[in-house]
Amino acid sequence: MTEPRIERCLPDGFLADSLRADALAGLTASPKSLPPKWFYDERGSELFDKITLLDEYYPTRAERAILRDAAAEVAAATRARTLVELGSGSADKTRLLLDALRGAGTLSRYVPVDVSEAALITASRRVLDGYPGLAVHAVVSDFEEHLGLPDGGGPRLVAFLGGTIGNLLPVQRAAFLLSIRARLAEGDALLLGTDLVKDPAVLVAAYDDAAGVTAAFNKNILSVLNAELGADFDLDAFDHVALWDPAAEWIEMRLRSAYRQQVKLPGIGLTVTFGEGEEMRTEVSAKFRRERVQAELAAAGLAMRSWWTDEKARFGLSLSVPS
Ligand code: SAH
Ligand code: TRP
Repeated sequence: MTEPRIERCLPDGFLADSLRADALAGLTASPKSLPPKWFYDERGSELFDKITLLDEYYPTRAERAILRDAAAEVAAATRARTLVELGSGSADKTRLLLDALRGAGTLSRYVPVDVSEAALITASRRVLDGYPGLAVHAVVSDFEEHLGLPDGGGPRLVAFLGGTIGNLLPVQRAAFLLSIRARLAEGDALLLGTDLVKDPAVLVAAYDDAAGVTAAFNKNILSVLNAELGADFDLDAFDHVALWDPAAEWIEMRLRSAYRQQVKLPGIGLTVTFGEGEEMRTEVSAKFRRERVQAELAAAGLAMRSWWTDEKARFGLSLSVPS
């Protein structure tokens, strides 16, 4: 069997160093917070895949339905030779794009980019198996540091699916879109998946499922700190919290300390105290309206050419090009 080519774009130790820096900054801040990219070790990626199968978690199904309808149009409009996918994860929905681009006869290379090496290897092998002759060049990277966008091989389509853009804070999001725009050439395009504002009860349920899978996923960030920093977080001493912030229009995920406790993190020489009921933010998941997506793209120099939603208008997919 051909093995996928795996490229590591970050300097040795970069991810370990940035985890330490993020943990130190986030746990000594007030309020405490941790950035969401550290959810995704091997177990975290597996738990996320389970989330995508939950009844309550509609975004994956909604985005898949859109791709089913729109992929041929995306392929015809872009005639992409290279598909770059940021935060590719299991790359399951991606098959709809790969099929459409192959159908159009233009596809020659797939470049999945993810911070989770385990998820990247599994997904790349599956794509290699399913698409003989396709060059698969996987890139282990933090897409906020290094986009992993290969030179040439155009036209290139950059896909950023799953609503993951909503996990960036507004300032980071603007910087991120600018960094994508700066790397795009004439003829390239961005395909962006954004979850949409809707009934808060539906939103909250998607991030607080009855079976507790999302709670386990949220707490997994503590396991990552235990494994990487020798920390002694007791996962049972924290509760999963998901709430809708109507002003920011985002879902906020937090971990709430059940009682007053001290946690040691030898890897960064830190002992932190959590008060009883103290909440630490682990993620935001912004929800969008079409006008906001269009305006944020425009601010980064990207012109929206198409916009699709599923039949219940739960999720939006946009195709944009350098303006
Ligand atoms: N695109 C898939 C997975 C979404 S989950 C889907 O639509 O279902 C988010 C993915 O982005 C995870 O695989 C995670 O490892 C990756 N990710 C999160 N932050 C990242 C970062 N800063 N750099 C690279 N990948 C990141
Ligand atoms: N990109 C996904 C989203 O915002 C990630 C996600 C889904 C997530 N469920 C989660 C992150 C629960 C943290 C906790 O929908």
